[in-house]
Amino acid sequence: MKKTFLSLGLLLLMAPAFAQPQFGRPRQEDNRTLKEAYKNYFTMGVAVNIRNMQNEAERDLVKREYNSITAENAMKSGELHPSENEWKWEQADVIANFCRENKIPLRGHCLVWHSQFCDWMMYDKKGKPVKKEVFYQRLREHIHTVVNRYKDIVYAWDVVNEAMADNVRPMWGSHEAPSPYRRSKLFELYGDEFIAKAFEFAREADPNALLFYNDYNAADPGKCDRIYNMVKKMKDAGVPIDGIGMQGHYNIYGPSMEDVDKAITRYSELVKHIHITELDIRANEEMGGQLRFSREGMEIKPFVKTLHTNQFSQLFKVLRKHKDVIDNVTCWNVSDRDSWVGVNNYPLLFDKDLNRKQAYYAVRDFDPSLDNVVPVEDFKPSELNQPGQEYPMVNSQGYARFRVEAPQAKSVIVSLGLGGRGGTVLTKGKDGFWYGTTEGPMDEGFHYYHLTIDGGTVNDPGAQNFYGSVRWESGIEIPAHDRDFYALKNVPHGNIQEILFWSESTQSVKRAFVYTPAGYGEAKAKNGKLKRYPVLYLQHGWGEDETAWSRQGHAGLILDNLIAEGKCEPAMIVMTYGMTNELKFGHMQEFDWTAFQRVLMDELIPYVDKNFLTIADRDHRAMTGLSMGGMETRMATLARPEVFGYWGLFSCGIYEPKDLQNVQTPRHIFLSCGGRENPDRINQAVEELQKAGFKATGHVSPATGHEFLTWRRALHEWLPLLFK
Ligand code: XIL
Repeated sequence: MKKTFLSLGLLLLMAPAFAQPQFGRPRQEDNRTLKEAYKNYFTMGVAVNIRNMQNEAERDLVKREYNSITAENAMKSGELHPSENEWKWEQADVIANFCRENKIPLRGHCLVWHSQFCDWMMYDKKGKPVKKEVFYQRLREHIHTVVNRYKDIVYAWDVVNEAMADNVRPMWGSHEAPSPYRRSKLFELYGDEFIAKAFEFAREADPNALLFYNDYNAADPGKCDRIYNMVKKMKDAGVPIDGIGMQGHYNIYGPSMEDVDKAITRYSELVKHIHITELDIRANEEMGGQLRFSREGMEIKPFVKTLHTNQFSQLFKVLRKHKDVIDNVTCWNVSDRDSWVGVNNYPLLFDKDLNRKQAYYAVRDFDPSLDNVVPVEDFKPSELNQPGQEYPMVNSQGYARFRVEAPQAKSVIVSLGLGGRGGTVLTKGKDGFWYGTTEGPMDEGFHYYHLTIDGGTVNDPGAQNFYGSVRWESGIEIPAHDRDFYALKNVPHGNIQEILFWSESTQSVKRAFVYTPAGYGEAKAKNGKLKRYPVLYLQHGWGEDETAWSRQGHAGLILDNLIAEGKCEPAMIVMTYGMTNELKFGHMQEFDWTAFQRVLMDELIPYVDKNFLTIADRDHRAMTGLSMGGMETRMATLARPEVFGYWGLFSCGIYEPKDLQNVQTPRHIFLSCGGRENPDRINQAVEELQKAGFKATGHVSPATGHEFLTWRRALHEWLPLLFK
C-alpha cells in the first residue's frame, strides 16, 4: 500500500503546476528518423570521419538517420594528395565504400581550399611559385583523378571552398578598392581565375555531379553580397557553378533568421541548388569557419539548451520554406562527442552519448501546419496585466505576444510556448525591446510564466504575479470559451477573509483564506437561529500556497455564481497552506504526510468550527485538492474518514475500491483531470469505483493540461454535488 502512495506521489510531482501545455503534433514514435521527417523537403546529411566508421553505434546512427554523407576531412586535397607522387586513399575509400554498401549518396568535400590543400602544387622544388600553367595542369590532374575515383557515389562536389573575404577593409595607405576575395596564396598567385579553372576541371571530369561554391558566414549581409557578386560574375562568364553551399557554422545567438532567409532568397536568383553543408550551432558566440574549440568545463545551462533548440527549430522552419531550392542539409559531425568545435559547445543534434537532444526533436517533430501560419492581428492586452500595461498580449486564437525592454541583453526567453521547447525565444527589435509571439495558440485558461534574461530569472513587469512553482510567477490568461462560470458578475458575492491561527504542532502562526457566502452572519435558519454552513477544505498543489485557489483559481467567484444560479446551497470554503513547498524533486519519500494532517485536523478545523458558523460534522465537511494537494486529500481522507464525507482529487490521484475496504464509506468521490493529462486513468478509476458500489463522479476538462483552468472547471462540476 505504501508503495502505491509513493508512486502516485511521484507521478503527481512529475507534472508540476507550472507544466506548459503540449502543442502541435504529439511527439512522434521514437523510431521516426530525420531523413523520413524531411523526405518531402530535402536530404539530411552528416559529415563522417574514420573514427565514426570504426564505431558500430555511430555507423548505425548514420544509416538510420541520414541519406547523404560528407567526408569530414578524408577527401580534402591535401589529405588525399600530400605530395606530387603520393596518394592516400585509405580513409576516403572506407567512407566511399560505406556509402556504396549502404546506398547513401556522398557529397564530395572539397577540391580547392586554402586550408588542408596541396600546397606543393603552387611551388617548385626550390619553393618558388611555378608558372600558372603548371599549377593548372597539376590541379586538373588532381581533380580528374579524385572525381573519377568516386564518380559512382558522389552526387555533388564542393569545388571551391571559402574564397571570399570575411571583412572588406581598405589596406592601410593604399588607394586600391578593397578586395572582396580572401587574400589566400591561391588568390595572390592566380587571382580569381583559380575558381573558374577548378569548376571547369570538375565539370570535365564529371558532367553529372552538381558543382558547388561553399563558404561560411554566407548569411552575413556583407559576405552574402560578395558571394553573390562572385558567383554571378563567374556564371555570366560561363563557369559551371550549379549551387551555393552555406556552411552553417552558427551559434545560439545568430545569425538572425531574417538574414538566413534573405541570403537564401538572394542566392536562389543565381542558382537552382542550395545546400546547408556544415551545420552546427555552438553554445559560445563565435561563428564562422575558424577552428575555435569550446573552453573546458563550460557548463550548458538550461537557457542555453533552450536557445540551442530554438535556433535549430527556427532555422529548419526557414529551410523548409525554401525547400524548392534547398536540397540538402548536412550536420557537421555525428554527435557532440567528436564535433570539431568540441563537446562543450553542445553543437549538434546528438549528445556525446549519441542520444537525441531536445533540438533533435524540435527539428524532427515540426508541425507543418504551423510553418506558414500568420496569427490574426487582433492582439489585446492580457486581462491580468498590471495597470496601463500593453504587453503581454493575447489574440483571439490564443497566441500570446510579449515585449520586454532589455537593451543590453543577449537573450530573452519567455517560459511560455509550445511544449517541449523550453519556451518562446524573443528577438531584439531596433528599439531595444525584445519581441516574440508564441509559435502556436496556447491552451485556453491561466498560465504561469517568467522571463529568463541571459540566464537570470525575472518576472515580466507587464503582468501581475501569482504564486506557483514556489515563486511569484507572472500570469497570463488566454480567455476560455466557457469563462462565464468564473466571471465577475452582478450577483450577491461572498467574502474571502484572511484568518491567522495558532498551530501548536508547528509552533507558528498559520494563515488561511475563508470564503463565506453572501448572507453569512445574517441569514436565519428555520429554527430562527443564525444559519450554519457546510465547509469545503480546498488544497492547492506542490508549488502554490493558500492564495492560489481564490486568486488564479477564482474559487469564490465560481461558488458565488453557482449559488446565484440556484445550483449550489450556500457553503464555506477554507483554503490553507498545505506545507508542500519545501519538498524537493526526488525527495518524495522524505515527505511527512502527517505534519499537514495535524495542522488541518487538530488545529485548523477546530479553529474554523469554533469561530465560524459551520455545521461541524462529517456530512457537512468535504476535502479536495489539486495535484499534490490531491495527494494530501487522499492521505487525510483515508487516515481520518470520519472527518470528511466528500472526497475530491483533481489531477490526477485516484482511489481504488481496495483502498476503501476497511474505511468508512465516503458519501461521494470526485476524480478529475485535464484532457492532456491521463484521462483514461481517471475514467477507468471512476468506473471501477461505481462498479464496486461507491458513489463516484469523474470529470475531464477538454484540451487543458496540469493547469488552473482544469481545476476551475473541476471545482465548478464538484461544488453542486457536495453536501447532498
Ligand atoms: C574542419 C574539420 O571538421 C576539422 O576536423 C579539421 O581539423 C579542419 O576542418 N569549413 C570547412 C570544413 O569547409 O572542411 C572544416 O572542417 C570546417 C570549416
